[in-house]
Amino acid sequence: MSIEKLLEENKQKYEDELKEFLSIPSVSARSEHKEDMARCADWLKGKLGDLGMKAEVISTKGHPVVYAELIDAGKSAPTVLVYGHYDVQPVEPLDEWESPPFEASVRGGRMYARGTADDKGQVHIHMKALEAYREAKGTPPVNLKFLFEGEEEVGSVNLEPFIRDNADRLACDVTVVSDTPMLAEDLPSICVGLRGMIYTEVRLAGPRQDLHSGQYGGGVVNPANALAEILAQLKDENGRVTVPGFYDAVKDPSPAEKKAYAEIPMTEEHFREEAGVPAIGDGEVGVHFIERIWARPTLDVNGLLSGYTGEGAKTIIPAKSMAKISMRLVPEQDPNAIREAFEGYVRSLKPEGVEMEIDFYASGLPWAVDPAGPVFKAAASAVEGVFKREPLFIREGGSIPIVPMIEQILETPLLLLGFALPGCNLHSPNEWMSLDLYHKGIDIITRLYDELANELGE
Ligand code: BES
Ligand code: MN
Ligand code: MN
Repeated sequence: MSIEKLLEENKQKYEDELKEFLSIPSVSARSEHKEDMARCADWLKGKLGDLGMKAEVISTKGHPVVYAELIDAGKSAPTVLVYGHYDVQPVEPLDEWESPPFEASVRGGRMYARGTADDKGQVHIHMKALEAYREAKGTPPVNLKFLFEGEEEVGSVNLEPFIRDNADRLACDVTVVSDTPMLAEDLPSICVGLRGMIYTEVRLAGPRQDLHSGQYGGGVVNPANALAEILAQLKDENGRVTVPGFYDAVKDPSPAEKKAYAEIPMTEEHFREEAGVPAIGDGEVGVHFIERIWARPTLDVNGLLSGYTGEGAKTIIPAKSMAKISMRLVPEQDPNAIREAFEGYVRSLKPEGVEMEIDFYASGLPWAVDPAGPVFKAAASAVEGVFKREPLFIREGGSIPIVPMIEQILETPLLLLGFALPGCNLHSPNEWMSLDLYHKGIDIITRLYDELANELGE
């Protein structure tokens, strides 16, 4: 049977299996899901074994890594490492989901569930591509290594040592990652840049316990007020981050890149509607909105907590306050240098009368690549074969900390070929995947095997 026909006939079967994968609540951040994480890894191992791969679950200090190999294409064939993650983000707020997050539901050509787009659906694309290729055409012309981790959403802290320790085993000619969005349903794209990041938590402690705000207000420093004042000083009136030296290493995009941003077929209006905001803003004044997300660093409060937030009024000076703050970084910013500068600056803003503690969580390097050479040629052909139009090269504002690590440690080119979409509610309620793109993705990956074998084979 031709592979086209086989893919067409198997659509329902693939979707049903994806639903099974999505039903396992593999939330890496929550300790109550530790068992589910192990169950999800075992599920993957079973399915990868069914594909004829040698598959194993490898435990780490955190959640297990799933690793599988199919080294059948011969010595002169290129080896492709596929990276993805089977962990997902927490689902709260639950009451905003229109269907339960771990019971996948298909509505209007979309499959809704936590992990459909980020990243189980995209991991599954690679699994079904291999299955279809073997059924229709036999052994793929590339050797395949699949590396699926369970800690991407919590910073991949245990994966970096794993990759270092297993660099020989993971050796490959190219790494393929499907964990990013395309530009639009009809605008295929390949991602050539990601932002890096630093994530921090700042805590202020004032009075020993909450105080009556009439008895003490005006007499003691209020940790909520103090935190608000500090946060307000982290960006200036032109939307620029005020941490000293923050922009020192930031390079201006090339004129060609700037021109490309202006030509991206996405309007401010479209972006505004998709984000559900009354107006776009809060970026650097005078910088194109696409450039601000893709190629400029930024700072955002991700969470804020202090004082009384229940029903009605309660007159207190809160004892403490807390903010979670992320900074998205771009090449060539150094996360360590920024981290030190941030800490020094924020401490300098602390008023007397409160104590300050700062913690740092996940961090990751920014990444960008020049889309030249055989890997990008192969990918563009595979995409064009399905979409009948050339892919655009785009950047993304999100981060995948392990991407620059893999590239550095394994010293191979890396391809970000993702099938999510803007607006598909990554990390939010009602996450979805376009089923059309899911099936196109499977088709593209089967073609990618042939194209990579052509371009990279001896
Ligand atoms: N798949 C995303 C990264 C992504 C999202 C890339 C949107 C491009 C566009 C990944 O799972 C993710 O969420 N990464 C985190 C990293 C963090 C937990 C260290 C992120 O970007 O917040
Ligand atoms: Mn992801
Ligand atoms: Mn994510």
